[in-house]
Amino acid sequence: MWQTYYTPSTLDQALALLNEHRGAARIVAGGTDLILEIERGQRKPEIIIDITRIPGLDRIELEAPDRLHLGPLVTHNQVVRSALCRRVAFPLARACWEVGSPQIRNRGTLAGNLITASPANDTITPMLALDGYVTLRSVRGTREVALADFLQGVRRTALADDEMVVDIRLRALSPQQRGTFLKLGLRQAQAIAVVNVAVVLTLDETVAGSDGAVVTDARITLGSVALTIIRAPEAEQALIGAPLGDASIGRAAELAAAAARPIDDIRGSATYRRHMVSVFTRRALKEIQAGRERDALPNSMVPVALWGATDGRFPTWSTPPAGSTGPVVHHTDGHDVIETTVNGVLHRISGSADKTLLRLLREDIGLPGTKEGCDEGECGACTVLLDGIAVMSCLVPAPRAHGSHIQTIEGMAAGEALHPLQQAFIETGAAQCGYCTPGFIMSGAALLDEVPHPDDNQIRQAITGNLCRCTGYYSIIAAIRQAAEAAQ
Ligand SMILES: Cc1cc2nc3c(=O)[nH]c(=O)nc-3n(C[C@H](O)[C@H](O)[C@H](O)COP(=O)(O)OP(=O)(O)OC[C@H]3O[C@@H](n4cnc5c(N)ncnc54)[C@H](O)[C@@H]3O)c2cc1C
Ligand code: FES
Ligand code: FES
Repeated sequence: MWQTYYTPSTLDQALALLNEHRGAARIVAGGTDLILEIERGQRKPEIIIDITRIPGLDRIELEAPDRLHLGPLVTHNQVVRSALCRRVAFPLARACWEVGSPQIRNRGTLAGNLITASPANDTITPMLALDGYVTLRSVRGTREVALADFLQGVRRTALADDEMVVDIRLRALSPQQRGTFLKLGLRQAQAIAVVNVAVVLTLDETVAGSDGAVVTDARITLGSVALTIIRAPEAEQALIGAPLGDASIGRAAELAAAAARPIDDIRGSATYRRHMVSVFTRRALKEIQAGRERDALPNSMVPVALWGATDGRFPTWSTPPAGSTGPVVHHTDGHDVIETTVNGVLHRISGSADKTLLRLLREDIGLPGTKEGCDEGECGACTVLLDGIAVMSCLVPAPRAHGSHIQTIEGMAAGEALHPLQQAFIETGAAQCGYCTPGFIMSGAALLDEVPHPDDNQIRQAITGNLCRCTGYYSIIAAIRQAAEAAQ
């Protein structure tokens, strides 16, 4: 897959490596896009630079009342669970909640979503509506680029091959601003957007002689309907200067559809997509008009993240592991050693630096309980806990396990005593062929560590990344409910 895998523990080390290996190197953050691209032969980097051990890259901070900063390692789940993001960047939090599944949201970063720059990527649409900027750094210096200039086409950005994203800056919503995000997918989780829409409005109550607050500024952005995420300026203008009424909403929805330049593809025809832009723009504006846009993700709701008892942050290396002064290096020539603790046992594996964690567990450590289903992050059969957080092991590079603690299905039972989840799966008939079962049990375990007494909605949220092709989900939900009750 790659020849050398570097894990720097400082930003300067990462930038020096990018400079040294210009063109041949690629940064990996969550790996949820890059590992797939490598597996599919769409990218062939010789050098991988894993930035996930560098401390301080996951900040979420309001630097001034209108400046929200997100570091390059901020994950989708961290945004969803951040009260600050939900307050001042609600459209982004709602978009992050719509990304993939809990396991994907635990590793996938906003910066990775931006750099992949697919027109269907969900978080770019709200970031553009929130007037986003990215800060790019290399050994040559630092520059800040508006997202509108950064996005240059399908999977094309202004990032130079020696640069990395070190910050994302968004305009935080003021008390006068309201906004939301809506996505149409072919199912509720693990779905690429057929269309997505973000809206941010500024409403002024003080304009004399008006019926209600007047829209003084509007930003409407559309995803999955052009070569890149676009704004709909005519639709925005249709709203400005009057209160948010049914007539202006209808007009804006029509103009948004007219701004779309969709294509026909497997997920929908161009005609359908254009129509749904109108439907979703109207729906988003109506939600704001009714003051109900936050109902889908209310402050009272704590979305399930599957990050167990942790705070959703993977441990970083404030000092590199013993014996290394610079970045930790794993070569694929057999002289590397991955030291990882699996189910409490330390393993030292060499010659396996160019594979995924799933294959490392099954082929080298001899633990075949973690299953390979799709190998694309879609089915959840490969779910394991990486430092207590549920991830898809088919999308984790094996060297990422160096210095980590992994828990797999083989580590669930305590001697002869099955884990309450294993017992409940047997008693409720939640397993038939059993192929999906280890993944469901690992997701269930992360859930019960995080929410000891989940309701059925939380159980459903927890297993959105796991597919079963035989049992149906009722008995699986019943098993997790029973295990929670047993623990109680
Ligand atoms: C099953 C599945 C479901 C998904 N569902 C969705 C979905 O619903 N919506 C959606 O929008 N996306 C979805 N994705 C795509 C993916 O999860 C996101 O795009 C994610 O945000 C990528 O982040 P990452 O950290 O994993 O990126 P990586 O895979 O680590 O990197 C992606 C790209 O960004 C580059 N990169 C990463 N960080 C930096 C940096 N700081 N500086 C410079 N370059 C950098 C990498 O070199 C690479 O080219 C899904 C993916 C899978 C596998
Ligand atoms: S999600 Fe990893 S094998 Fe399917
Ligand atoms: S029990 Fe067979 S796939 Fe789930």
